[in-house]
Amino acid sequence: MIAQPKLNKGNIDEVLKAMTLEEKATLVVGGGWGSMTAGSLTASDASLVSGAAGTTRAIPRLGIPSTVLADGPAGLRINPTRPGTTQTFYCTGFPVGTVLASTWNTELVEQLTTAMGEEVKEYGADVLLAPGQNLHRNPLCGRNFEYFSEDPLLTGKMSAAYVKGIQSNGVGVSVKHFAANDQEVNRMQNDSRVSARALRELYLKGFEIAVKESDPWTVMSSYNKINGEFTQQSHGLLTTILRDEWGFNGIVMTDWGNKEGTVAAVHAGNDLMEPGMQNEIDRIIAAVKDGSLDVADLDRNVRRLLEYIVRTPRFAGYKYSNKPDLAGHAKLVRKATPEGLVLLENNGVLPLKDVKKVALYGTGAYDFIAGGTGSGNVNKAYVRNIAEGLRVNGLEVDKDIETWYRQYIDLTKTSLRNNTAGNGLGILLGDPVVPEMEVTRSFMERKLGATDIAILSISRNAGEGDDRKNADGDWTLTGNERQMIQTLADLYHAAGKKLVVVLNIGGVIETASWKHIPDAILLAWTPGQEGGYAVADVLCGAANPSGKLPMTFPVAYYDIPSSANFPANYSDGNSIDLAALMGGARTPRVLRKDIDYTEYAEDLMVGYRYFTTAGKNVSYPFGYGLSYTTFEYSKPSVKVGKDGITATITVKNTGSVAGKEAVQLYVSAPAGGLQKPACELKAFAKTKELKPGETQTLTLTFDAYTLASFNEGTSAWETAAGAYKAFFGASVADIRATASFKIGKAQSWPANPVCLPKK
Ligand code: BGC
Repeated sequence: MIAQPKLNKGNIDEVLKAMTLEEKATLVVGGGWGSMTAGSLTASDASLVSGAAGTTRAIPRLGIPSTVLADGPAGLRINPTRPGTTQTFYCTGFPVGTVLASTWNTELVEQLTTAMGEEVKEYGADVLLAPGQNLHRNPLCGRNFEYFSEDPLLTGKMSAAYVKGIQSNGVGVSVKHFAANDQEVNRMQNDSRVSARALRELYLKGFEIAVKESDPWTVMSSYNKINGEFTQQSHGLLTTILRDEWGFNGIVMTDWGNKEGTVAAVHAGNDLMEPGMQNEIDRIIAAVKDGSLDVADLDRNVRRLLEYIVRTPRFAGYKYSNKPDLAGHAKLVRKATPEGLVLLENNGVLPLKDVKKVALYGTGAYDFIAGGTGSGNVNKAYVRNIAEGLRVNGLEVDKDIETWYRQYIDLTKTSLRNNTAGNGLGILLGDPVVPEMEVTRSFMERKLGATDIAILSISRNAGEGDDRKNADGDWTLTGNERQMIQTLADLYHAAGKKLVVVLNIGGVIETASWKHIPDAILLAWTPGQEGGYAVADVLCGAANPSGKLPMTFPVAYYDIPSSANFPANYSDGNSIDLAALMGGARTPRVLRKDIDYTEYAEDLMVGYRYFTTAGKNVSYPFGYGLSYTTFEYSKPSVKVGKDGITATITVKNTGSVAGKEAVQLYVSAPAGGLQKPACELKAFAKTKELKPGETQTLTLTFDAYTLASFNEGTSAWETAAGAYKAFFGASVADIRATASFKIGKAQSWPANPVCLPKK
């Protein structure tokens, strides 16, 4: 007779000992797909949460409950309605990851995710499958909106803040997708072929920071391979790097799929298979029986699962209310969102003055895009559009234009839904995006006299399952959109009036060819359910935008080195001399068209690292964003102490309205060490809201390890001795102050030679 202890925090060993092989295999395989369908629950606990992406299985004999895992990252994703009740279970649609990163404000991000975590807890989930933190290697990755930035430091700091906020509620996160999951085309099989150095410095660095600074409960291994091995099955990645080097002590779960190498995954340290299927349980049992899986590996993973389970609210029997503070969170989101909106152009028209009647064009102005599609789409009760936002700010939206748009949107949506119904791609594609309506010049002309200003919203959406396209209507404007911008500008300018463009888009688009035409461009991103209010608050001056770009807007798509090796469209004869930029250190292979693998031939030359090193023009640089006020930077000081480097700089609001400023500290290394990009972000800080004339001294800290580069020859992180330059920028291209500091002694930190490219 097997003993039957009931799980508690102090008896994990005893419970582990009491488990049968079948029970162990059951615990490391999730409860199946069923929990995603309203009302159909597969796991044994009938109180589970409808619409959650996954569960862990219960073993009632040992007092082990099921736990619930639900998406993320722009809020909790569960079903909003349930059979048998009129109660609703909507969640707040928070700003997407890219908007959070655009705030450059870790405190604000933590505040927002503290609220988000309350929804996770009060709706009965245990883990939010978020944050998404893959790098923006290429702007056309379909899921970039869920992710933070092209820079690993900004990514890591944002992720750590996000994790702290969620976990302050006593629920967990799953930092995803670990790692180098930077495209959606062929995402289940694709092999990311990347040098050890770029992997460590770029694609792993953000995860390293998040793990070390915020102690996430769980990490989600990705679908793809790195250098020929599935990440889910990579002992080097999941054990050597993640646990041995970084000290991670939570659980790793797979992304949602069932790969044949279950046994290799268990061995690698992938503790939980999600969403979980019977054949995975069977494989594990068979492998232990035939000796191809060491039961010690299974026991290790089971122990971690038990350690996770005793931390969960479900294990504690938490009585969740199903009534999170949605009203409070909506207010918080509306107030926070302008910090993530980026003012790209403003010739003085914003904030609007002496404007009463608005000619509001663009489908997105009435059918605002709050977030992307796929598992990252939150079921929110409503989305505020720009028309509503302008009205609550006291403006009038022209009725004819509004009526016309609303009719067009309703009709088009109905026909699009009918056309796509039943294609089975519902969860991935979401609601169809309504193509921009064509508006004739004569209509615009008729409306010119009745309105004081034209505002045009340009919309794009993207999401899980596909990458964006280098094509009109996606990366570039359509002919119709171009014409609308030009015609509205011509008409309104001739009448002494202005045109403002709002970009309601999830990722970077081409701007260089048209950005000079309107009087202002506000980049709203897809900023969540309060987006239309936040946009109008900024346009009308109720809020001062303080977002700055967490990525570069290039002049042309093929200016981006990774465009030679990204499956959206491949460049012909890409002429970027990467070898020269990397000091001839390697001869990058620029391969085209390969759907089974992606050669990360650009190596470290991602985003601003490339543009600053090559001295190439961009449309908007990394870190860029305007404000309604101006700031002055003092002379900085940089001190090297025992615990690291401390920089201080005083920022003064020299304009006439209150505002916040994000200061970025870029460092360039002395010659002599490894060849490096021209500069790299090493710290950043944002002021509080400074009144006109007010100053604040910011302290920016980092350590010698943050300065290190990864030497493939020695398999070690190395910080060279010598004189470093610190650049204090309002963007990477707008350096306001410089200082230098000295690292007296070279330092190095050994690392393991794992996840290496195949020779
Ligand atoms: C996505 C994950 C998500 C999971 C569960 C996967 O397809 O890649 O980001 O958390 O589904 O919905």
